Amino acid sequence: MPSLTTPPNPVGQSAPPQLFPFLDLKAEYAAMKEEIRAAVDRVLESQQFIMGPQVRELEAEVATLVGCRFAVGCASGSDALLLALMALGVDSGDEVITPPFTFVATAGSIARLKAKPVFVDIDPETYNLDAKQLESAITSRTKAIMPVHLFGLPAEMETITRIARAHGVPVIEDAAQSIGSQYQGKSVGNIGEFGCFMQEISVRAAGDEQPLGQLAGCDPAGEAQVSGWVHQSPPTKCRSLWRIVQTGRVRQVD
Ligand SMILES: Cc1ncc(COP(=O)(O)O)c(C=O)c1O
Repeated sequence: MPSLTTPPNPVGQSAPPQLFPFLDLKAEYAAMKEEIRAAVDRVLESQQFIMGPQVRELEAEVATLVGCRFAVGCASGSDALLLALMALGVDSGDEVITPPFTFVATAGSIARLKAKPVFVDIDPETYNLDAKQLESAITSRTKAIMPVHLFGLPAEMETITRIARAHGVPVIEDAAQSIGSQYQGKSVGNIGEFGCFMQEISVRAAGDEQPLGQLAGCDPAGEAQVSGWVHQSPPTKCRSLWRIVQTGRVRQVD
């Protein structure tokens, strides 16, 4: 009887040869090596390892890339999701709608606040939240909708935001896997009230044009609030050394 963690391996069948590594970070490092090493040296010389100028630099570059007013660097994509939920006041007993097919951190960020992830199934064509099933999942307890742009493919944001606005519910985009992706000419992460990216960046508050822009976290006061949380919480702070790697990566997104 095969265990749940061991994939079945019929007798006599050897594992297929690995044609290329599943994750080849060395190739990426080789392409950026000189830039990274020089920047690492600058951080070591400055001895400012946390929340240094590199963090500000990355935040500005991400905001420009995504086309939003500001970006706040934090410790991880998971923390970005958590901070966005906190900025919207999500609390114990609240419901947040999200798809079940995603990385564990999406629903995990909701559970960390003792709120309830309400799963709306995925579209079998796109593997993203099926917008047709969204409206029937909204209740009086729904505090946010958290679609995921999986594998670089944007979720169906036109329908999702139309339904969200009709119900006055803010949207947090989990764009962890999709920085640089575009949806109808707009960068993902810049469509809902907040966009959250992996590789330790960031939560974004919506621009002035957003109809829900007055909600917590969607105006400059929201930026100050989220930044304040990052500064007060050591695990949430940005590490300058890590930031410079990410700044290099962001520059490679086109
Ligand atoms: C869809 C999605 N959301 C959130 C995260 C969490 O990002 P991090 O690993 O930086 O906490 C990931 C990470 O793989 C992800 O794929």
